[in-house]
Amino acid sequence: MSASLRAQCVLLLGLLWGSLSSASSCRLRIPPHDQVARVARFVAHQCDWASMATISTHKPVVGQPFSNAFSVSDGPEGSGSGVPYMYLTRMEISVQDLEVNPQASLSMSLAQTEYCRQQGFDPQSPLCAHIILSGSVLEVNGTEAEFAKKALFSRHPEMIDWPSDHNWFFAKFNITQVWVLDYFGGVKTVTPEEYFQATLHRKPH
Ligand SMILES: *[C@@H]1O[C@H](CO)[C@@H](O)[C@H](O)[C@H]1NC(C)=O
Ligand SMILES: *[C@@H]1O[C@H](CO)[C@@H](O)[C@H](O)[C@H]1NC(C)=O
Repeated sequence: MSASLRAQCVLLLGLLWGSLSSASSCRLRIPPHDQVARVARFVAHQCDWASMATISTHKPVVGQPFSNAFSVSDGPEGSGSGVPYMYLTRMEISVQDLEVNPQASLSMSLAQTEYCRQQGFDPQSPLCAHIILSGSVLEVNGTEAEFAKKALFSRHPEMIDWPSDHNWFFAKFNITQVWVLDYFGGVKTVTPEEYFQATLHRKPH
């Protein structure tokens, strides 16, 4: 981080919260752990990629879980919708699984951000907040596809140049259950209604 960027960052932090526990770094401010739905929305917005497990249709692991990395975005930075959008092609191995069974599980962790490293939290520690989404992957079109495009291309600019002969399409992860590991005491669950009602905690820049 450049000195001027850092100065701006510290200034913004100061403006937004008045007091600073650490004036030397621009840290992500995770919502309080008892506000579980907000923590889930925070993690979903901070993460640029997710591990998605499908039920494999490929030999020799037909019927077994198959986890693979995907670029995701729930909205341009600072305006997350909570819905993870993806840019997919039917040439892709996991997408072929989804064509047979659209049910999937999406996992995102603050281990993907600077947060856990700065705090010294191991990725498997519940303090390194992570979420697991259950649901299915659905193609989107119309105005929702327009939003998905804005959400994804703003955070993954190289997608614009991905080969057009791959017939990319926009999809969303349709959430049916949210599982949150953000503190001691075991996993917590959040319904889609609670998740979408929660306000996104904004990140300073
Ligand atoms: C958009 O998607 C919905 C359901 O996914 C489908 O019923 C509809 O026909 C689609 N519209 C267009 C224009 O493709
Ligand atoms: C999408 O998720 C909602 C719950 O948020 C669920 O009621 C609905 O059945 C799901 N739709 C599909 C097509 O899986």
